[in-house]
Amino acid sequence: MKKSLAAGLLIAGALGVVVSAQADSRTRFMAANCAYCHGPDGKSRGAIPSLAGLEKGYFVEQMKAFRDNTRPSTVMSKHAQGYTDAEYEALGAWFASHK
Ligand code: HEC
Repeated sequence: MKKSLAAGLLIAGALGVVVSAQADSRTRFMAANCAYCHGPDGKSRGAIPSLAGLEKGYFVEQMKAFRDNTRPSTVMSKHAQGYTDAEYEALGAWFASHK
């Protein structure tokens, strides 16, 4: 009885790791869409601003402003349309952790 409980907990723990790893790779995949212009891991080497190290709150605000066209942009308004608020948050956290 005790053994099967322990095994169940182990499996639940392992599943938790798989789920969070999936969430992370999904965010990485989304962030890769930005690399062409913003540089690998959001570290730009050109005129386009870096995303790496941007404060998450600022990042999310800019994405919403691009989406709603309250911040004028050349291309970002189109990119921002493709993501949900939750995805802005995930991307913001990801770039904030890549300094
Ligand atoms: C085709 C090139 C291109 C791609 C791809 C691209 N961006 Fe941008 N990004 C820009 C440009 C250019 C700007 C400057 C504003 C403008 O002109 O649109 C910018 C600005 C930004 C800013 C504002 C930065 C600041 O310091 O205020 C954020 C945030 C941003 N982009 C996020 C993203 C995210 C997230 C993605 C991927 C989902 C992405 N961008 C994909 C070209 C791109």
